[in-house]
Amino acid sequence: MSSSPYAPLQFAYWVPNVSGGLVTSEIEQRTDWSYDYNKKLAILAENNGFDYALSQVRYMASYGAAYQQESTSFSLALLLATERLKVIAAVHPGFWQPAVLAKLLSTVDHLSGGRAAVNVVSGWFKGEFTALGEPWLEHDERYRRAEEFIQVLRKSWTEDNAQFAGDFYRLRGYDLKPKPLDLPGRPTPEIFQGGNSTAARAMAGRVSDWYFSNGKDFDGITEQIEEVSAAAQVHGRTVKFGLNGFLIARDTEKEAKETLREIVAKANVEAVHGFRDAVAQAGRSTSDKKGMWADSSFEDLVQYNDGFKTKLIGSPEQIAERAIEYKKRGVNLLLTGFLHYLEEVEYFGKNVLPIVRELEAELERKEIPVGVAGA
Ligand SMILES: Cc1cc2nc3c(=O)[nH]c(=O)nc-3n(C[C@H](O)[C@H](O)[C@H](O)COP(=O)(O)O)c2cc1C
Repeated sequence: MSSSPYAPLQFAYWVPNVSGGLVTSEIEQRTDWSYDYNKKLAILAENNGFDYALSQVRYMASYGAAYQQESTSFSLALLLATERLKVIAAVHPGFWQPAVLAKLLSTVDHLSGGRAAVNVVSGWFKGEFTALGEPWLEHDERYRRAEEFIQVLRKSWTEDNAQFAGDFYRLRGYDLKPKPLDLPGRPTPEIFQGGNSTAARAMAGRVSDWYFSNGKDFDGITEQIEEVSAAAQVHGRTVKFGLNGFLIARDTEKEAKETLREIVAKANVEAVHGFRDAVAQAGRSTSDKKGMWADSSFEDLVQYNDGFKTKLIGSPEQIAERAIEYKKRGVNLLLTGFLHYLEEVEYFGKNVLPIVRELEAELERKEIPVGVAGA
């Protein structure tokens, strides 16, 4: 983790480990959820400038995702197939005993030379918890549990004879050995979190390394960066920011916009509506109604993490310029999804990324500082 205000903008991609691709649409998607496809993709991604891959966690069919590969095992397989890519495994508190997961991730960290990371998601899919026989906690209780979960991960990774007495989890003299690798600037595997409600923001300020936002325009991300950074400052911490965006880069803006139009025109209407109803369990269920999907339109939800809102849609120059505008506002990492992964990840690496790096070099030459989070 560099302290330079000019640290390069980082890039992650969503691992397509659930079927149906990243958009809930009948448009042709040359993306596959199989291991063979994903292995090829991970190698291609690390050779095209991607720093991270983020796996999704889903235990059963829902809203266009009929098949799902389990996130921690799939992430390990991708780590072993690559050399530099960091793979972030999404996990739900509630389904894992956190010290057991800490042990698993420590082993994964050793197996991968220090490239393990985790995304703690508090969950929105009540049907999944019910089907697996776990109680479905009220929204802010899910966050109280998630925060204890992260505390147990960190304690297990950093302390001997770790003690913890929480409402959800306990440690009574746990010695995790070996600890994960202690790398410069990365004392433990990085802890990301997904969720944008008021409870999510407060938790990020207290315990998370990274805060992921659903797709947002400039004002939408700035508002979150300011609130989370202020919360972190109270605890003498800094948090880094990742922003989701569905990336449609084409030779011309017209072609890119036409692709977006076709994705939305061919939306699986029933699945999008079902998803909209299910995610009312997220921020919309809280008293201030802030959080993921709180103000999403039908079109926004066709990319199920509001990825169109970020508007990384256009020619390579347009996308690179917009990426830099987000960086100036404090975004450290863009989390990307694509329609046809293999083709488009390569197109991104060849055509978009070099422009991003040129624009960054220009900013540095002009000494224009970037970011409010002190990347
Ligand atoms: C980048 C990102 C990735 C996420 N990945 C998953 C996931 O794989 N599985 C899942 O159930 N929820 C996932 N979530 C959603 C979380 O479950 C989230 O905590 C929940 O929807 C509540 O959000 P809220 O704080 O806005 O109410 C993700 C969220 C973000 C921002």
